[in-house]
Amino acid sequence: MRLTMLPSTFWMVTNYTCNNRYLYCYASEGFRVFDESQDVMDYTYATEVMQEMKDCNAEHCLLIGGEPTLYHRLFDLIRFGYSIGLKMKLVSNRRRLADRSFVHDLKKAGLVHSSVSIEGATAEKHNEVTNTDSFNESCEGLQNLVREEISCNSILTISLLNIDDIVPLARLVHEFGVSNILYNFSLPSVGKNGIESCYSPDPQQAANLISSAYLQLKKEGITIGLFATLPLCLFDQNVLQQMTEDKVIGRDYHCHVFYGTGAAFEPNGNVLPCTHFVNSPLFNAKGPDSHFSYKGRFAHEWEEGIHKQFIETAWRYPSEHCKTCKLWGKCFGGCPFFWMNYHPDNFITKGVM
Ligand SMILES: C[S@@+](CC[C@H](N)C(=O)[O-])C[C@H]1O[C@@H](n2cnc3c(N)ncnc32)[C@H](O)[C@@H]1O
Repeated sequence: MRLTMLPSTFWMVTNYTCNNRYLYCYASEGFRVFDESQDVMDYTYATEVMQEMKDCNAEHCLLIGGEPTLYHRLFDLIRFGYSIGLKMKLVSNRRRLADRSFVHDLKKAGLVHSSVSIEGATAEKHNEVTNTDSFNESCEGLQNLVREEISCNSILTISLLNIDDIVPLARLVHEFGVSNILYNFSLPSVGKNGIESCYSPDPQQAANLISSAYLQLKKEGITIGLFATLPLCLFDQNVLQQMTEDKVIGRDYHCHVFYGTGAAFEPNGNVLPCTHFVNSPLFNAKGPDSHFSYKGRFAHEWEEGIHKQFIETAWRYPSEHCKTCKLWGKCFGGCPFFWMNYHPDNFITKGVM
């Protein structure tokens, strides 16, 4: 039996509306089974979820979308979360944060952190990937967070479209005064028409790209971090050791999905193991009266219900080599979404001994 923990972090999808048009976004209308009437979070339902998660000892509430800064009751939601002791955070494209007074008000409402997505190091690239003319606004938004002294990190989702921007992007945001520079890889997604490749680099290419960027940036005194989506055996082991020492690869390098320490809540009531599971919910938590129907019993459902079965299924070796790998349990052989598009045996050819 696997250990299922309660979420310490949860993502609240406030709305799926977005002011960008990413070419590969798993949350966009082109990918999701789209129902306009269910696209915006009901405020009361959101507060009921937040209270229940707080009662389950969750600490961090991340507002995500779509674009959460477009949510009509954003400030109320942040104030409510703050008032019950949650650490309120945003995952945003920052366009609305170009208005400094908006950022100031977010801080006053109780926002403690914002994760900000930037999809390229130049206006040309960022605008191509987001399908908008938003680079300048986004840069201003990031700088406003720094000016208002709100903790923030940048995220570049590396896809085949922006592989040349990995190093220049780190230099750019470093100049803005951002020290927490994170990278994520575009993952294949289950779209409404089946599996979509999402311009995803293959896992080995991804490991090579980020290793060489890390080594280059280290020479320049810029530290980066990495989301836990790649099998660790794909890295050169000397580089991996350096990355571990430099905390590029964190102490608990694993995705929260495998231990159940994160959950995502959608406006239509669906509960997901992570936001990427847009079309594949675990269960629905909205009752016929539109209220949260798991009040006082979310923990039991999470630990004993379908989520437990999900964890049992998720803990499987993608490759025979993972069985003897000393990093198993820290690494889970890569994000399962990669393996919808690529075969693990073509990449995981050894374990780490
Ligand atoms: C879906 S967006 C929503 C929040 C907000 N609008 C933003 O831009 O950050 C959150 C993050 O997911 C990333 N993302 C979108 N599609 C992805 C995919 N197929 N694989 C991995 N990350 C993806 C985006 O780059 C962004 O950093």
